[in-house]
Amino acid sequence: MSAVEIIRKKRDGGTLSEGEIQEFIEAVTKGTWPEYQVSALLMAIFFRSMTTEEALLLTRAMVHSGKTLDLSSLPGTKVDKHSTGGVGDKVSLVLAPLAAACGVVVPMMSGRGLGHTGGTLDKLESIPGFKVNLKEDEFLAALKNVGCAMMGQTKDVAPADKMLYGLRDVTATVECMPLITASILSKKIAEGISALVMDVKCGSGSFMKNIASARQLAEMIQAVGKANGLQIRTLITNMEAPLGRMVGNSLEVIEAMNTLQGNGPSDLTELCILQARMMVQLAGIESSDAKAELLVKRALKSGQALDKFREMVKQQGGDPRIVDDPTRLPVAKHIAKVTANSEGYILEQDAYTVGQAAMKLGAGRETAEQKIDPAVGIVVCKKPGEKVKPGDTVYEIHHQGGGAATTATLMLAMSFRIGSQPPKLDPLVLEILE
Ligand code: URA
Repeated sequence: MSAVEIIRKKRDGGTLSEGEIQEFIEAVTKGTWPEYQVSALLMAIFFRSMTTEEALLLTRAMVHSGKTLDLSSLPGTKVDKHSTGGVGDKVSLVLAPLAAACGVVVPMMSGRGLGHTGGTLDKLESIPGFKVNLKEDEFLAALKNVGCAMMGQTKDVAPADKMLYGLRDVTATVECMPLITASILSKKIAEGISALVMDVKCGSGSFMKNIASARQLAEMIQAVGKANGLQIRTLITNMEAPLGRMVGNSLEVIEAMNTLQGNGPSDLTELCILQARMMVQLAGIESSDAKAELLVKRALKSGQALDKFREMVKQQGGDPRIVDDPTRLPVAKHIAKVTANSEGYILEQDAYTVGQAAMKLGAGRETAEQKIDPAVGIVVCKKPGEKVKPGDTVYEIHHQGGGAATTATLMLAMSFRIGSQPPKLDPLVLEILE
């Protein structure tokens, strides 16, 4: 079938065959379809969607567009975790060393932030010297020596995803369930893992703004993951407000290290313990919820999880002294404040606006080429449900001067509401799929 016929078929609501999907992905990988035809098909998929079977075929074709890592020389079940992305989501930084301290082998291939969402690689790169561009043998050596390693996607792993993601970003076709499913899972499967904890974010700070669409995405990811032989636990978690209290790259490293020392914010700590427990169970180390959770809590309390983080930083070329002395991380020149102007409770806080404000400061990027500033960001001093008086600091803005701080101040002032009665808050974990 020609490109035009495949586009027309999807445009008219048809179901693409295995051959048609393979032809599309081969053309993307070899560059034989012009970008306008690839974009046209992406838009047709955006409007017409895909069946779970089509998403499965798309995922497989994308896995086969490149190389698959061979982790078979490492003993045990290799377990990774992925989140669909949010604001202040530094769970991976805590989870990889925490699960590794419990005996899980954790190969993590992570991404960069785009728009209002942050990326694990950018956060890690705020650690002086930390190398995320590992070669396959360096990744394997890190996994053997430490038990966890975090790297960026190489050009050989799921190259079709890299090309498609770039086009989706500039054609407004990112927020599409089968495309998200295939994008995430193709990278995870090519990474050579056997099990995955998948955190689908739901709320203003994420792609999925309501529970119905989050559930649909979670179900599609779970079905396609299982059909590809992955053991997978999928949860849907709240992203209406930022996770934790720090947003911005070196600030999030500090908060992750605090959490690894048992001094993290309660929402972040709860989510890390739950997901680490699931990773321990998927690895077959403990089967009962209670025993797996106990193991995780012990790793936090004993300092073993923090030690693992230190080891990982050292193994990947970073300065391990940041663990005991976080002032070695990049620090912004100025701190501005956004204060409350009335008494009451924070009723809601819009994660999307907080993420956008952080991006305007330079903590994130509007386009994939932009450079980020690791030092800038936002500290969320008051969160939904907390009491405030006039003059109380709701946000600290860590900035380098110039107009960005004024823009961020205006945005943040609009990002929360105060009311006289405490709000009824949604739970952090909205659903866990069976
Ligand atoms: N994360 C990915 O890796 N791909 C998507 O499409 C969305 C989030």
